[in-house]
Amino acid sequence: MQTHEIRDRFIQHFVNEGHTEVPSASLILDDPNLLFVNAGMVPFKPYFLGQQNPPFPNGTATSIQKCVRTLDIEEVGITTRHNTFFQMAGNFSFGQYFKEGAIKNAWSLLTSSVEDGGYGLDPERLWVTVYLEDDEAADIWEKNIGLPAERIQRLGMADNYWSMGIPGPCGPSSEIYYDRGPEYGKEGGPVVDDSRYMEIWNLVFMEKERGEGTGKDNFEIVGDLPKKNIDTGLGVERVACLLQDVDNVYETDLLRPVIDAAEKLSGATYGKKHEDDVRFRVIADHSRTGMMLILDGVTPGNEGRGYILRRLLRRIIRSARLLGAQGETMSVFMDTIMDTMTPSYPEIADNRERILKTAVNEEKAFLRTLESGTSLFEEAAASVKASGSTMLAGAQAFTLHDTYGFPIDLTLEMAAEAGLDVDQE
Ligand code: SER
Repeated sequence: MQTHEIRDRFIQHFVNEGHTEVPSASLILDDPNLLFVNAGMVPFKPYFLGQQNPPFPNGTATSIQKCVRTLDIEEVGITTRHNTFFQMAGNFSFGQYFKEGAIKNAWSLLTSSVEDGGYGLDPERLWVTVYLEDDEAADIWEKNIGLPAERIQRLGMADNYWSMGIPGPCGPSSEIYYDRGPEYGKEGGPVVDDSRYMEIWNLVFMEKERGEGTGKDNFEIVGDLPKKNIDTGLGVERVACLLQDVDNVYETDLLRPVIDAAEKLSGATYGKKHEDDVRFRVIADHSRTGMMLILDGVTPGNEGRGYILRRLLRRIIRSARLLGAQGETMSVFMDTIMDTMTPSYPEIADNRERILKTAVNEEKAFLRTLESGTSLFEEAAASVKASGSTMLAGAQAFTLHDTYGFPIDLTLEMAAEAGLDVDQE
């Protein structure tokens, strides 16, 4: 099942249940605490907090929200499921249905047959987790849905209590996982192996408000929200990975064409060497994220959002070169990803020229930087090794930055590839 159909089925399922379809918000919302929208519920925050009334006739909504998360950028391509841009399909209840409704709705979409509009997943392969103390959710899974007790596991706050990471709405959650089979890892459910058991849907029972704090479990609950709400997030890319029967999210219909294009440009082959595969996946993932960020108005720069975009684009260029591509490659990657994404985001069509120009200009500038800095880096690395050390001196890293425009993370990445550390202190 193609990604656009996975999206359509989700929306249709919840519209049939009376939800109002809401278009994705921009990746950039006016929230000083958030660099990018990173969850489907972000645009709905004032409704959860009771600051505004939800303008939806039944008090329920559904959306496919564009999301960017760049915290684990280093994981891209190494694991099977980390995308920096992804589409979060969600259904939201503002004081209407609660745990039982959310669980039933999710189960029916996942397990209804394809003929009946569902995803047709085998119920025997589905597992869930619930928050340690949440007997109510565990009971619904067992008694109302009929899920065997051994496939209902309990986890603590770090895994099964969701908040935006900042003060705001929060609550216990229940996550739904799909067992990909023994070839993907150890038996024993998601508490044992979250690669084999892939998380596909998070159901958040949004009923509390959190205060300041750090991490996923180190914050205070300051009180109850005015109403009990539902916020869910289904990873569209992960469902695509399962329904398209491919190994990882980078090989799904929207991203695989970029890998194919990178093969042609570089002469390298995907699926032969892990190191190269990671590069191919970085190119596919980052091309899409970069394109979607430019679409929403970000331009490359030296700080904040602009720097994240710059870093993504530069990682594409370096990955392509490490695979063996010569010269400029960006326009091919951008054209390819714009082709695959336009059916779901028709506004790309009106912005093609602008997106292309922004990305290609950044490439031209970076290629000049690389040209001047790379030989200096290599000389420095060689002399470090010749002296029997594995540590690039701080002064050398600084010259690369100051004179040649190498950002420190580029030096760190190149040093790591050469088996060296950098004296950052
Ligand atoms: N807000 C939750 C999440 O991001 C569910 O949508 O996982």
